Amino acid sequence: MDSGGGEVDARDRLGELSDLFASRRLVVVSNRLPYNPHRAREGICYIKGSGGLVTALDPILRLSNGLWIGWDGGTGASMKGKRVTISEPEGEESYQLRFVDLTEKEVGHYYYGFSNRTLWPIFHNFIGMSRFNSVHWKTYFKTNAYFAGTILEEANPSDIIWVHDYHLSLVPNFIRYQNPDLKPYFFLHTPFPPYDTFRVLPWCKPILEGLLGSEKIGFHVKGYADNFLDCVEKILNAPVDRESGVVELPGREVKVGSHPISIDYNAFRDTALTKQVMKRAQKHRSRIGDRVVILGVDRLDYTKGIKERLLAVERFLERYSRYRNRILFIQVAVPSRTRVEEYRVMKKEVDETIGRINGRFTGEGWPPIQYIYRLLSREELVAYYRIADIALITPGRDGMNLIAKEYVASQVDKQGVLILSEFAGAAEEQTEALLVNPYDIETVSETIYKAIKMPSGEKRARMEKMQDLLEERDIYYWVRDFFEEVS
Ligand code: G6P
Repeated sequence: MDSGGGEVDARDRLGELSDLFASRRLVVVSNRLPYNPHRAREGICYIKGSGGLVTALDPILRLSNGLWIGWDGGTGASMKGKRVTISEPEGEESYQLRFVDLTEKEVGHYYYGFSNRTLWPIFHNFIGMSRFNSVHWKTYFKTNAYFAGTILEEANPSDIIWVHDYHLSLVPNFIRYQNPDLKPYFFLHTPFPPYDTFRVLPWCKPILEGLLGSEKIGFHVKGYADNFLDCVEKILNAPVDRESGVVELPGREVKVGSHPISIDYNAFRDTALTKQVMKRAQKHRSRIGDRVVILGVDRLDYTKGIKERLLAVERFLERYSRYRNRILFIQVAVPSRTRVEEYRVMKKEVDETIGRINGRFTGEGWPPIQYIYRLLSREELVAYYRIADIALITPGRDGMNLIAKEYVASQVDKQGVLILSEFAGAAEEQTEALLVNPYDIETVSETIYKAIKMPSGEKRARMEKMQDLLEERDIYYWVRDFFEEVS
């Protein structure tokens, strides 16, 4: 899972595409870099992030001797536009990081402001949560121009430039405008909202124009790509060929497609089988006994439906009273964007709801909810996946949701049940999950019961189907699929 042996593995799994990356340098651009610099006594050290994108692209960047451009994440070790070579682990190819230095003010307006308080909610269809502030927009514009400037300094026309996510929607057009020989690719990791939602954004037009500077734009599922094409047609009056997913611009075409991101399936399965994970899982089990374990794992974000999920667990305990003291709902919440007010408000609500439900149902026995508010290591997380009889993944809206896929990959005993929101991108592929509307508390509580009662054979059959698909369409498939027509 980590980069140990990753390069050779990546070469195999990328197939023909590995030749492309070996001959053309991959330049990845995202808001956050994959390694966070930290000041240590012996100097600055770099800690690898745990996200899916990092795990996927790290080995590919190594075989491409590539470059990743981004912000240091405000870890306090100011890197002032530095370039750093990531050469660990020893014996593997290296690649470079180029730090984009942002001031406190820029971070406040561009990242916390426009990216996280305007685009994030509107892209997830939470219009009421979106804040429209012209200072945030101006700084977003300036910061995107600054990212583009860094790319122009670093890249040349033979590079494959891949820009990621909503923080950088203006970058593709800035690059192309200043150097038409550079042809950026773009991938959006969130949903793209329907026309009626997107048009509410006062800056909807420049955002579409910014994205259309790309050679190709990737979305997780067809619905998001269709929404984007609708917006292009209706807001920019640009001709769109829906059949082939092409936007016709004067003198060139932009490809638009759906490419569901995935995980390193084998790595998760292998981690689930390690001794350390099995030991941890056994330890949890002996503490929990034979209670049914229901698991939720999320960044603490209002799009994840955590509050509604808690209410569904409460409703379950009301309706099926014989299960009181016989289930344990473990909610892992990773702290996120804690400077943003909406996130602080939400955290308070979640804390209070858990307190109230635990207060209500803790009788002689255990509190029904165990709440873990921190980032877990990969091994810790997989140990929870292994003991979870049910994963309750019920976002109100989610671009993809890789937790659902990680849970499936870690179910080596094939006895877990995935309850999944129909509003997560993952629901399009994981059709053997029990799909629910997360706002329908009554039905979600009933589905928990159904999952508990599901016969072992059915659990196995559903899990096997989901695993087979995931094994085939892993993270390497995602990269191959996205770059299929590039030579
Ligand atoms: C989402 C976004 C990513 C982002 C991640 C964590 O998955 O699509 O681009 O990196 O959330 O959020 P953060 O604001 O901490 O980077």
